[in-house]
Amino acid sequence: MAIQLYVVFALVAASIHDCDGVLRFASYYNDHMVLQKSPERAVVWGYGPEGAQVKLNVSGQIQQNISQATVTNGIWRVTLDPVEAGGPYNVRASMQNSTAALTDVLFGDVWLCGGQSNMLFSVSQTFNASEELKNAAHYPHVRTFMASLVQSGTEQTDLIQVEIPWSVPPAYLAGFSAVCWLFGRDLYDKLQYPIGLVESCWGGTPIEVWSSPRALQQCGLLQQPDGGPKVNSVLWNAMIHPLLSMTIKGAIWYQGEANTVYHQEKYNCSFPAMIDDWRIKFHQGSGGQTALDFPFGFVQLSTVQKYSTSDAYPNIRWHQTADTGFVPNPSMQKTFMAVAMDLPDEKSPYGPIHPRDKQDVAFRLSLGARAVAYGEQDVAFLGPFPAKILSTSKYLEVTYDQKVSVAPSENIFEVCCSESQTPCGPKSRWVPAPIMQWDPTTVQVSTSLCSPTEEVAALRYAWRDWPCDFKACPIYSASNILPAPPFIADRRSARGINEL
Ligand SMILES: *[C@@H]1O[C@H](CO)[C@@H](O)[C@H](O)[C@H]1NC(C)=O
Ligand SMILES: *[C@@H]1O[C@H](CO)[C@@H](O)[C@H](O)[C@H]1NC(C)=O
Ligand SMILES: *[C@@H]1O[C@H](CO)[C@@H](O)[C@H](O)[C@H]1NC(C)=O
Ligand SMILES: *[C@@H]1O[C@H](CO)[C@@H](O)[C@H](O)[C@H]1NC(C)=O
Ligand SMILES: *[C@@H]1O[C@H](CO)[C@@H](O)[C@H](O)[C@H]1NC(C)=O
Repeated sequence: MAIQLYVVFALVAASIHDCDGVLRFASYYNDHMVLQKSPERAVVWGYGPEGAQVKLNVSGQIQQNISQATVTNGIWRVTLDPVEAGGPYNVRASMQNSTAALTDVLFGDVWLCGGQSNMLFSVSQTFNASEELKNAAHYPHVRTFMASLVQSGTEQTDLIQVEIPWSVPPAYLAGFSAVCWLFGRDLYDKLQYPIGLVESCWGGTPIEVWSSPRALQQCGLLQQPDGGPKVNSVLWNAMIHPLLSMTIKGAIWYQGEANTVYHQEKYNCSFPAMIDDWRIKFHQGSGGQTALDFPFGFVQLSTVQKYSTSDAYPNIRWHQTADTGFVPNPSMQKTFMAVAMDLPDEKSPYGPIHPRDKQDVAFRLSLGARAVAYGEQDVAFLGPFPAKILSTSKYLEVTYDQKVSVAPSENIFEVCCSESQTPCGPKSRWVPAPIMQWDPTTVQVSTSLCSPTEEVAALRYAWRDWPCDFKACPIYSASNILPAPPFIADRRSARGINEL
């Protein structure tokens, strides 16, 4: 009995950081960190003896005003004056009889990187890993931090454990997220000021574990009765909620594979709902410093199984865009997407679900960030998407919203042959629609594989798990950099392209 009681007390003590009365910073503030630069104001918080007055002194190139806070419920918290990009600074928290200090602190843009195994996929696992690690030494102002993989049944105030404290590359970089690192590095190349990368992800996880109960409720995703690692909100509680106080610039996300076999049909709700909910919660959690519409980038799923006839991957790719095919769109504002279905890796030693080319994924994300998050004009970040689809007796003519680079294909397009003009329903079949000819913006596909008595009810592009070989999809932007994303256009659909 006595032993049991002792264990219970030990657990409680370990889960509460603030009960020892020592002046400290919260878990994710340490030397070498990046705090969010102006115009936002960084939030800094920590622990101390109840009632104590804590002073925060930020000193470096520019002397900040001293900020003060009173320790309440074991926690002090200050919102700094805005600081321009740069550094290094020292941040010192002090009270009468003790101090805690952070050195080599930079101000820049802080990006959160979330998702499942393709975000967890480390720099050491990518193609050209040793070159990437060597090259990282040229980026001392891109700093990395990783939360430990921990779950919790209740919303945590602070991280229970830290996997990689804030580090200067190449320290600990081999085990850090490749997509996150390469994205930050590409942004640095453009912005030339500090970038802070916060990795918080876990392999094999469905979106439900990263979503708050409020977000899940909006989609009718109620708590499952069975326990285990798929319990709703357990990683929201332990790996996202603690970060809400940190002012961030934006987030990137690589997840969805787990939802091809779990609540797939709800992903068109659960994904936009999670984005909206995170935005509200980070805004509130930072006292209004993180923008209410902070930019959110994501990777559209790559590939898993060659020759697969399952619709699961195409369905999730479509749902990732709230069933519109592209972002940003009205229900997913200020988002950006890296299309990755043309980057398959059949021979990946980590399984084909984990393609090793993360450089192209990160680069495409960085183009989206430059356009959507940084408002850079003239950055092409969207692959070609149909603006208009016209039907003639034997053909469909797809007019794209930009100039395209086209290669012939017998079956990347498919048409739905149906008994009536209804949506492609049970009495319909999909048949290949070969590309017949094209000009700089228009692609003509044949509908001759439908019988003369059938109607063409819908058209779809790249609607397969593994639609093409590496960088060899038939339609790209004229510059050949951005693949056309998959689409499905139903004749009667309210969404998508309605002009069939
Ligand atoms: C420092 O002062 C606080 C009260 O402000 C007190 O609770 C704490 O025990 C003191 N610590 C030391 C090491 O003297
Ligand atoms: C803040 O820190 C700087 C550098 O250590 C020091 O020069 C300055 O006096 C400090 N200001 C206060 C009010 O403690
Ligand atoms: C210090 O505070 C004053 C008054 O709020 C403000 O005008 C000034 O810009 C602050 N200084 C710095 C370095 O942030
Ligand atoms: C989401 O997808 C499902 C399954 O495809 C569909 O039935 C539903 O209407 C879609 N919901 C929204 C909001 O688009
Ligand atoms: C790996 O390095 C080679 C040689 O520099 C380069 O051609 C190739 O594109 C790189 N691969 C990736 C995925 O970046």
